[in-house]
Amino acid sequence: MKESKYLTIKEALEVDTTQVNLRGWVYRERKSNKFVFIVLRDGSDIIQCVISKSKNPEIFEKAEKLTIESSVKISGDLKKDDRAPTGYEVSVTDIEIIQIAEPFPITEYQSPELLYDNRHLWLRSRRLNSILKIRHTIVGAIHKFFRKNGYYEFDAPIFQPIMSEGGSTLFEVKYFKDTVYLSQSWQLYAEAGIFSLGKIYNMGPTFRAEKSKTSRHLSEFWMAEMEAAFMQLDEITEVAKDEIRFIIQQVLKHNRNELKILERDIDLLENYVKAEYPTIKYAEALDILNKKYDMNVPWGKDLRTIEEAKIAEHFKVPIVVTHYPTEIMGFYKPPSDEDPKEALCFDMLAPEGYCEIIGGSERSLLVKNMKERLRAEGEDPETYSWYFDLRRYGSVPHSGYGLGVERVVSWICGLDNIKDAIPFPRTMLRKSP
Ligand code: 4AD
Ligand code: MG
Repeated sequence: MKESKYLTIKEALEVDTTQVNLRGWVYRERKSNKFVFIVLRDGSDIIQCVISKSKNPEIFEKAEKLTIESSVKISGDLKKDDRAPTGYEVSVTDIEIIQIAEPFPITEYQSPELLYDNRHLWLRSRRLNSILKIRHTIVGAIHKFFRKNGYYEFDAPIFQPIMSEGGSTLFEVKYFKDTVYLSQSWQLYAEAGIFSLGKIYNMGPTFRAEKSKTSRHLSEFWMAEMEAAFMQLDEITEVAKDEIRFIIQQVLKHNRNELKILERDIDLLENYVKAEYPTIKYAEALDILNKKYDMNVPWGKDLRTIEEAKIAEHFKVPIVVTHYPTEIMGFYKPPSDEDPKEALCFDMLAPEGYCEIIGGSERSLLVKNMKERLRAEGEDPETYSWYFDLRRYGSVPHSGYGLGVERVVSWICGLDNIKDAIPFPRTMLRKSP
């Protein structure tokens, strides 16, 4: 076989050619006295291959040895076949076996736990392959969105001596003779970055020692954040809406095939690209919950998942909720001038039960108030002195938000559990493989 002329399966399905050389893994195999059928996969797609005993007795003998996940190089003639899974079949004229795989530990029906234990192998499944391709598009879309809109990529440290989202979810790390924490957010460092670059963004690993075992929480996840000097709440909520519409539009452009494999409702996604997303206040959200859904949520309580789900169900499109109670918000979220009980912050809630996908706010400029809030949380404001410097040298209103990449992947793919939105999930109960 000539090394130079290999096509990926996707290329083979697209080009107008009859003779192909392919390489990949046996995804499925079926043997009879006269034929061996294999479905070959190579990351790009799958294709059915058939080896006929009468036409090619020697190759048939080789093919009979193939097991699931064996690695092979195949040459053959490509022809249209409507019965084949991707519409074409290769009539094999030559096979080179690279390795005969041992019996594969994953068969058709498996418990979720076994699949997670074998995540390193399960990544090869069509389902995971499709999710990973959509994740790839989403990550690419986020970079594209911010870069085309004039944001600079800016990196923050992962080892941080401070917290931003509350001490209870910090991961402590021994740092030479000291203790530091793994990043809970890029934000506080970004607030320094904007005074140099104006509008910035980042996508990076984020860590939360979440003690919740829900289908929406990871302890290591990727957050895509933006921060911009001079912008205020009403501007960043519009940026967030545009970002989400752009991401979905890119997935629809590049991943129709994968969405079909995942049996995602494509019409719904198309509607999310066209739709206007409403912005309501927390107080209005309570009104809907209490009047329409009879829920009795008192002012001042954070919205739980079930309440977020109802709000999103009411609107059926992504929805922005602003002005949550100041008291239950992070120290950096400022009270509004009109009513200090309400903070200048927002969450974006996704429909179909996916709930919070984005959280953001204006940033407080009230140093004294922030120091009090920190002290109340048991923090020493001294450790944050560099952060307060930012309020001393040309302080300006500024705002930003963070988007949970796996939350968005879960929603767009229609997943039951956020663990499938990342190659190797980390949760309270899972840290391997
Ligand atoms: O709402 P959060 O906690 O906001 C922040 O961290 C801000 N500092 C961001 C900013 O303003 N720059 O987190 C932002 C988003 C959430 O809306 C959610 O989508 C996701 O990050 N997220 C998680 N995703 C998976 N697992 C977890 N444990 C998550 N915690 C937050
Ligand atoms: Mg939040």
